[in-house]
Amino acid sequence: MSVTWALPFDKKIKPKIGENNVIDEKTYSEIHEKTVKNYKEFWEEVASQLEWFRHWDKVLDESSPPFYKWFVGGEINASYLTLDRHYNSWRRNKVAIIWEGEPVDEKGNPKEVKQLTYSDLYREVNRVSYMLKEKLGLRKGDTITIYLPMIPELPIFMLAAARLGIVFTVVFSGFSSDALATRMNDAEAKVLITADGGWRRGKVIDLKGIADKALEKTPSIKKVIVVRRIGNGVRMNEGRDIYYDEIMSDIPHNAYVEPERLKSEDPLYILYTSGTTGKPKGIVHDIGGYMTLLHGTMKWVFDVRDEDVYWCTADIGWVTGHSYIVFGPLMEGVTGIIYEGAVDYPQPDRWASIIERYKVSILYTSPTAIRSFMKYGEEWVKKHDMTSVRLMHSVGEPINPEAFEWFYNQVGRNEIPFGSTWWMTETGGIMISNLPGYLMIPMKPGSNGMPIPGLEADVLDDNGNPAKLEERGYLVLKNPWPGMPLTIYKDPERYVKVYWSKFPGIFYAGDYAVKDRDGYFWILGRADEVIKVSGHRLGTYELESALIEHPSVAEAAVVGVSDPIKGEVPVAFVILKQGYNADDNLVKEIINTVREKVGPIATIDKLYFVSKLPKTRSGKIMRRVVRAVTMNSEVGDITTLEDEASVDEIRKAIQEFK
Ligand code: PRX
Repeated sequence: MSVTWALPFDKKIKPKIGENNVIDEKTYSEIHEKTVKNYKEFWEEVASQLEWFRHWDKVLDESSPPFYKWFVGGEINASYLTLDRHYNSWRRNKVAIIWEGEPVDEKGNPKEVKQLTYSDLYREVNRVSYMLKEKLGLRKGDTITIYLPMIPELPIFMLAAARLGIVFTVVFSGFSSDALATRMNDAEAKVLITADGGWRRGKVIDLKGIADKALEKTPSIKKVIVVRRIGNGVRMNEGRDIYYDEIMSDIPHNAYVEPERLKSEDPLYILYTSGTTGKPKGIVHDIGGYMTLLHGTMKWVFDVRDEDVYWCTADIGWVTGHSYIVFGPLMEGVTGIIYEGAVDYPQPDRWASIIERYKVSILYTSPTAIRSFMKYGEEWVKKHDMTSVRLMHSVGEPINPEAFEWFYNQVGRNEIPFGSTWWMTETGGIMISNLPGYLMIPMKPGSNGMPIPGLEADVLDDNGNPAKLEERGYLVLKNPWPGMPLTIYKDPERYVKVYWSKFPGIFYAGDYAVKDRDGYFWILGRADEVIKVSGHRLGTYELESALIEHPSVAEAAVVGVSDPIKGEVPVAFVILKQGYNADDNLVKEIINTVREKVGPIATIDKLYFVSKLPKTRSGKIMRRVVRAVTMNSEVGDITTLEDEASVDEIRKAIQEFK
C-alpha cells in the first residue's frame, strides 16, 4: 500500500469555475441513491443515448452471475459509434486527432504534427478494415495483437478491428519480448501489428527486434505488419513480415467496409493486466456495456463539449488510453491530442508547451507526472500560458494532497474542477470520481470523491461488514455495471476466484480504501502484490519469472516500495545459485535481464542478495513480510512463517546495501 501521507478528511475546496453548480455531498448522496436503486433503468437510459443497430431485449442478463451480460439482444459497433456517426454529421471535417511526434527541431518545436479529421480517420479505418478482411482473411472472432508506439496507426488498427468484430489485444510498447510473447500466445493472435521502432526520450525503441524475439515462441502468428515510423530498414522475415505501406498500397482510397452488426455482449478487446499470482490475466471487455459506460463518464467526469481540446497523457497501451484516448473521446466527437513521447522531453516543460500550443481545455494526467513536474519546479510551468485548461483529473494511483494542491494552483489557477478518478482495467471506465459535468461536490485534495451514478461502492472489513468510517478496508463494487469484464480470457474460473469470491456476489477490486464521514472515498493502493510504478501496473510474478531466468538466480522475491515521484518502485531479493559471486556486475546483469524480458518499465530499483526468503510452511514467499521489513514498517502476523531468521536476513541485506 503506497499511501504514506495523512488524509485531510476535513479539507474541502469549491472550484470557482462552475461554483454555482456545486452541491453538497448529502444532496449528491441522495440523488445517487436513487440511481443505484434503479440501476438497470438508469443505465438503460444512458445506453439509449447511443446509436444501436438493434435495440436490446433485456437490459441485464443475470442468469449466470458473475457472468453478467448487458443489453442482451442489442446490436452495436464501436467503430460505427466513433466514426460513421461523425462522418455522417457536421463533424465530418472536425479534427479528431492532433498527433505530435516526440522529436523537436533546433528551436525546440515539434518536427511532426499531424491532424486527422473525423473524415480522415473514417477513411483510413475503412481501408485498414478492408485490408484485414480481404488480404489477411480475418473474420469476426479472430484475434490480433497490436504492439505499436503512440502513433495514429495505433487507434486506426484498434478501430479497424472493432469494425469487423476482430478482437484485438494491445501490448504496451514499453513491454519487452517475454511480456509480448506471453500475451500473444494466450490470445492465440493470428496477426501482429508492430513498427520499425518508436521514439522515447530521443532514443529509438527497437520494437521490431523485440517482436522478432517474441515471435520465436508464438506459433499462432502467421503475419506481421510493420509500420514505418523510424525508416531504419529493419530485418524482415520473408513471407511472414510485410510493411504497412506496402500491404496498403493497392487498397482504394475510398474503400468502405460495412460495420458488422455485433452483439452487445460480443468481445471488443482483451487487455492483459497483472494480478497477484500467475500469468497476466486477459480481461475481456464487451461492446455495448463498455461504450455505455464510456459515454456516461465522458459526460459526467469530463463534461466534454464540442469546442473542447482534450488531452489524456496516458499511453494507449494501458486501459486509460483504450477508454479515454480512443473509444470515449472519439465517440463523443471530441478533438483529442495524441502525443508520442515523454512529457518531459527534451525539456521539463514539453507537456506545458503542448497545452499552450493546442489550447488544451481538458487535461487527464497522472500523479507521477504531476510529482515530476513539481520536482522540476514552477519556473517551467510559468513559461507557458495554460489558461485554456478548464477541467482536469488524475488517474492511475493515489494522489498525495501536496501534489494535488500544487497542480491545482499551477495549472488549475485555484479555480477549476480537479479530481482523482479511481478505476481499473477490469472496470472498463471510471467508477469513483468528482463529476463536474453532472453533479459536482466540493473537492477534497487526495480523495477520489464519490461513486458515479448507477454504481454502488463500499469499503468492507475482513468479515465483509462495512468498515468503520475513516478506517481502512477493502474497496468493493456492489452491483453489476456496464463496462464490467465479460470474463478472464479462457479462464472463467479465475475470474470468479479473483474478483467475486473474497466477498461472494460482489466485486472485489483488490484495493485498500477509506470512506470518510462525508461519504468520500479515498483509495489507498493495492491490497495485494501488484506494484504500481508510475501508475503502471506490474505483477510480481512476471518480474520474478524474469529474474529466475538469469542463470545465477535460484530464487527471487519482488516487492513494491514507496517512491517520492513514481509512487512505487520494484525492489528484488535474490538467492544466488552456488558458485556465483554477489558483485556489482552481476547486479547490473540481472537487472538488465528483467528489462530485456519484461521491459524498461520493470527496472528493478534495488537488488539485494540474501540466503533465505521469508516463506510460509507450505513454501509460499511472504512478500507482505519482505515489504514491511523493506519499508521499515510493522511486520504484522508472522505465525505462519517457517523460519524467522529469514526476516533478519532481509533486514541485514538492506542495512548492508551500499
Ligand atoms: O490501485 C488502484 C490504482 O490503479 C489500479 C488499477 O490499475 P490499472 O488496471 O492499470 O488501471 C489504471 C488506470 C485506470 C487500482 O486497483 N488506481 C487507479 N486510479 C486510482 C488508483 N488509486 C488511487 N486513486 C486513483 N485515482
